[in-house]
Amino acid sequence: MPYENSALLPAVRSFLSAPKKLLIDGDWVDAKDGRTFATVNPSTEEELVQVAYASSVDVDRAVVAARAAFESGSAWSKMTPRDRSHLLWRIGDLIEAHADEFAQLEALDNGKRVEAARDGDIAVSAELFRYFAGWATKMEGTSIPMSVPGREFHAYTRREPVGVVAGIVPWNFPLLMACFKIVPAITAGNTVILKPAEQTPLTALRLGELLLEAGVPAGVVNVLPGFGDTGAALVDHHGVDKVAFTGSTEVGKKIATAASVNLKKVSLELGGKAPNIIFNDADIDAAIAGAVLGGYFNEGQCCVNGSRLYVQRGVFDRVVEGVAAAARAIKVGDGFDPSSQMGPLVSQEQHEKVLGYIRGAVEQGAVLNAGSADAVGDRGFFVAPTLITSVNEQMAVQTDEIFGPVVTAIPFDTEDEVVAAANNTVYGLAAGVWSNNIGTAHRVGARLRAGTVWLNTWHADDVTLPRGGFKQSGWGRELGSFGLDDYTELKTVIAELR
Ligand code: NAI
Ligand code: MG
Repeated sequence: MPYENSALLPAVRSFLSAPKKLLIDGDWVDAKDGRTFATVNPSTEEELVQVAYASSVDVDRAVVAARAAFESGSAWSKMTPRDRSHLLWRIGDLIEAHADEFAQLEALDNGKRVEAARDGDIAVSAELFRYFAGWATKMEGTSIPMSVPGREFHAYTRREPVGVVAGIVPWNFPLLMACFKIVPAITAGNTVILKPAEQTPLTALRLGELLLEAGVPAGVVNVLPGFGDTGAALVDHHGVDKVAFTGSTEVGKKIATAASVNLKKVSLELGGKAPNIIFNDADIDAAIAGAVLGGYFNEGQCCVNGSRLYVQRGVFDRVVEGVAAAARAIKVGDGFDPSSQMGPLVSQEQHEKVLGYIRGAVEQGAVLNAGSADAVGDRGFFVAPTLITSVNEQMAVQTDEIFGPVVTAIPFDTEDEVVAAANNTVYGLAAGVWSNNIGTAHRVGARLRAGTVWLNTWHADDVTLPRGGFKQSGWGRELGSFGLDDYTELKTVIAELR
């Protein structure tokens, strides 16, 4: 029985009814060994569709295709920067034209609300193509003077693509994370093999169809759904020049080790456990709203969420009460129900993991000011937004990236004390400060060891801004003008003028 839901758009229904294959060299093909896997709707636990499961043999085929598309003389290598720019812009338009369809697919596969997907994931994905369309014609080098007595030189730099890029992405923003890898890579002239997460392959496959429709030459972007072994085969492959990964710190470390076989380039966007610091002199209503957004956005499945609240003692009770009341008021439900304010977690694995952390904290004496260690409802992977107090820095709920709607709150007295506590983590992705004292806000912001610091706001973002992690939160920066550096090699050319 094909999956059915009366709200489905005809385009979504027809997409789901066709076999879901691998995209290799511009063709949709089955996995060589014929294997498939099921992708599931986390709101209902129903199977949506079977998807081809790429093995190392398929990885080989995709690398051959991506290499051929990259080599000089290919249609891709001969495309002018202006034509590449126009192509990127066209893809952004196509994504926008199909936004409702993408949003439904994302809601089905990931669980998030249709509206959240459309206004967030899908809109930003389209914007990424347009932002980078501008850069395609601006991959400039510099001319550099040399001082060699009696001789004359002209020296200059060129920014050239790295080659074949493997993009390996997670399930929390499926289309958007795919675009984070594909867009800067092809802007700079690379070719790509994308490995979507096993939980959420659908929008990457739909994007593959639109890329072909837009006129991206065969082999420039290949899409290989599969599990960790598919990703590992890409990382091990000698024909891959660079791996761009977003996901867990644990897998990021495995990738860094495995990539050493041929010293392929690696960029990593890994886990986080962001501290969100509220001082007595903050605008408390704004800080509470920011703590709620920062804590529960995307069902808490976001690497830059503010999962560790530190609240100065004078406002601790007020902030805890405010965040707990807001958390309790959030309506958890199916991503297709317009009255839902929060969907389910992505998978049974994630559901069990998150509830396990809440249960563990309660067993260690922590207090639940909102939420529960029990599942919400008897079907679907729902968790109530949870706020935990009476925690200490050693508890797992405080040290580990939970990746669910779980926030802890701890009181503090002094600036030095809170900076030390906030930085006492292996992660360094994001952090935030709420204070109406401009000195406090900027000084503490500078002392926090994190790639992104928000002052009196949370989740404010733009495709123009670089992002990435200090410490074990990653290597490299994505997006903005800096986001192209990791997708280019710098060549120095020295000519003697005889
Ligand atoms: P994961 O890191 O295992 O998976 C992310 C991607 O890597 C998926 O496409 C997966 O198939 C692939 N992968 C897995 N093992 C691989 C390997 N050895 N070589 C190459 N690719 C491999 O994340 P998972 O298992 O989905 O989630 C586990 C935890 O990781 C979450 O609970 C969360 O704490 C964290 N996470 C963090 C994310 C972030 O953006 N910081 C995103 C997703 C998960
Ligand atoms: Mg995993």
